[in-house]
Amino acid sequence: MGARVLANPYTRRDGALWCEGVSLEAIAESAGTPAYVYSAHALRERFRALDAALAGVPHRIHYSLKANSSRGLLDVLRAEGCRADVVSGGELMRAQRAGFAPEHIIFGGVGKRRDEIRAGLVAQVLLLNVESAAELEIVETEAQAMGVRARIALRVNPEVHVANAHEFIATGSRGHKFGIPWGDVPAIAARALASPHIELAGLDMHVGSQLLSLAPYRDGVERLAELARGLQAQGAPLRFFDAGGGLPARYDTEEAPDLGLFAETIVPVVQALGLELIVEPGRFVVAESGALLTRVLYRKLTGGTDFMICDAGMSELLRPSHYDAFHAVEAVRPRGGSSLVDVVGPICETGDFIARDRLVDDAVPGDLLAVHTTGAYGYAMALTYNTRPRAPEVLVDGSRWAEITRRESLADLVRLEAETLEWKEA
Ligand code: LLP
Repeated sequence: MGARVLANPYTRRDGALWCEGVSLEAIAESAGTPAYVYSAHALRERFRALDAALAGVPHRIHYSLKANSSRGLLDVLRAEGCRADVVSGGELMRAQRAGFAPEHIIFGGVGKRRDEIRAGLVAQVLLLNVESAAELEIVETEAQAMGVRARIALRVNPEVHVANAHEFIATGSRGHKFGIPWGDVPAIAARALASPHIELAGLDMHVGSQLLSLAPYRDGVERLAELARGLQAQGAPLRFFDAGGGLPARYDTEEAPDLGLFAETIVPVVQALGLELIVEPGRFVVAESGALLTRVLYRKLTGGTDFMICDAGMSELLRPSHYDAFHAVEAVRPRGGSSLVDVVGPICETGDFIARDRLVDDAVPGDLLAVHTTGAYGYAMALTYNTRPRAPEVLVDGSRWAEITRRESLADLVRLEAETLEWKEA
């Protein structure tokens, strides 16, 4: 993918790193560290760029809340006209709380419980994405019991070959747990079409995440279009063609996705089908907007390794240890020079690292580091392991900034623990 038009909101002024018009040092001073910082401008810019690229066909951009479901970011995106893609009753609650209209929400997920399906029906979301015959049956019984017609899309496993950044973020190949196996789709679609309690309104796929090539999209779109044509020929009242998420972010040397080529791959196909296009981007929208601020606590040379021990680690940012993911690390105010180090956190795990064997700006205890491209799947995957409260989240908009999520307190962490036990007799 080519053409890079998206700006990096993190720039240097007078030797230090700023996010838009706010100094990261000032944020760290006031909010403490570790802390997540996001650029509102970057969110808007990415949403607008994608929206403009898809202008050739009626379309809806449903931001995938799983990437980062914090209210402050949702507010920025909703104000832009962005919609929501949720995968749990919890995310549905967050979307509704942030003011997304029910018809601006789609509800997917491979393992929705009955009560979550019911919640989706009660809310009257635009679409419930159904991933199996068994789930269709539950949707049908619940819709019947409520006296409503459930509007659904079938999430199909396109069974395409995807060269993913990591096997854990591959989803759309044969044998993955997601979606209806390709060969089972006609029978399940027939069942949905025959049911008075179901409106089969769309087809959905998600080929994978951090897709650096358009090839799997092209293959998936063709496969989904073939299905759509077959169903339309049988009189299915399809309205939506959901191409999923997967647009990549720049972590290291990756190129930004060429949104023009992305649109050329999808728009004509969806136009020819006479359908509305849905996309569910998560990472593309929020990843590059975010940086994790952390302070160096110690430098320790041991066994030939030079460790920078910081106050953020795998509990704040799980991606390096879980996917061996790369995140650029730089000093907020570089002293000049660099060292080959392991940037690690305080967690009692050898797998607790942010960067390994990396040439990083020299830093001494007290110095601030910025860990980049952490807006997506950073805070959303944060842990409280080792009883470490979750970091605050800060939104920058021009020359203003605000905490959108406060730092968790120690009291928050033990709030659910019973102090006196209410035993029940067996
Ligand atoms: N739609 C569906 C059905 C998905 O499963 C996903 C992501 C998305 C949309 C949004 O995908 P995106 O545009 O963000 O690639 N925690 C991993 C990523 C897991 C993605 C799971 N599904 C990571 O940190 O890389």
